[in-house]
Amino acid sequence: MGAPQSLRVVAPAPLLQVDGVSLEYRTRQRVVRATHQVSFDVHAADRFVLLGPSGCGKSTLLKAVAGFVAPSEGEIRLEGRRVAAPGPDRVVVFQEFDQLPPWKTVRQNIMFPLRQARGMSRAQASECALHYLDKVGLAGFADAYPHTLSGGMKQRVAIARALAMRPKVLLMDEPFAALDALTRRRMQEELLALWEDAAFTLLFVTHSIEEALVVGNRILLLSPHPGRVRAELNSHQFDLASQGGAEFQATAQRIHRLLFETGTAGGAEGTTASARTAQAR
Ligand SMILES: Nc1ncnc2c1ncn2[C@@H]1O[C@H](COP(=O)(O)OP(=O)(O)OP(=O)(O)O)[C@@H](O)[C@H]1O
Ligand SMILES: [Mg+2]
Repeated sequence: MGAPQSLRVVAPAPLLQVDGVSLEYRTRQRVVRATHQVSFDVHAADRFVLLGPSGCGKSTLLKAVAGFVAPSEGEIRLEGRRVAAPGPDRVVVFQEFDQLPPWKTVRQNIMFPLRQARGMSRAQASECALHYLDKVGLAGFADAYPHTLSGGMKQRVAIARALAMRPKVLLMDEPFAALDALTRRRMQEELLALWEDAAFTLLFVTHSIEEALVVGNRILLLSPHPGRVRAELNSHQFDLASQGGAEFQATAQRIHRLLFETGTAGGAEGTTASARTAQAR
């Protein structure tokens, strides 16, 4: 006899499902396969990290989730619906500092998509912009132009602009990679504080093992070009304070082996049971 309905544990459906996704670039001469049959699930309030070497297709995967690149195989679903085009429910923060139109002030940069995509009035958008600027510590720079800001400040504005849209998934492609080490660390800290505050869902791309462990609660390891899933592991136990500790170092080394040693078996100690694709091919 089955358990009574009320006692059944129902796992929440994933917010984002990437299901057997292959991504290709077609030029006249040839077809470049960026990823091969990649699958993973992102749940609400996850800080999900895509980690892998340069050229393994991380940015392409993020662009596919954003709706800019269509899979040649497989499907991406957000709340069960197939992703077929870009939308305001998925906002991307890029690595480059020049992602803010330079002719708009900081406040106008944040207001623009709120007015266009969210249909806010000027007053509402301005209030919302100031609210999020305050959250990233830039309330005093609302009327500054981007070229007068440092790289870290520009990235904070880009993050404020993205968060103000209240996307279902915030997509970040190596957002701190061009910053100096100290600023990068501070930005990681700030991102985690913002997440504590707002518990948004994050899909974060990096090729830094340390950054993946600090920022993520789950990490998907991708093999070199074309990207295939090597393993998926939990990393919620690590934060900036655990960096340098013995467990942190051991996990970083294990990830390094999983990423770079050919023939390494997936399903390593610490790999989650749900890593249905944990395998080295
Ligand atoms: N516009 C393009 N046209 C053709 N091939 C491309 C294009 N963009 C990327 N590629 C190829 O697709 C593969 C994956 O690229 P992608 O930029 O997604 O890698 P990545 O993991 O983000 O690398 P990195 O860590 O260096 O940013 C690479 O082999 C790259 O050469
Ligand atoms: Mg990239």
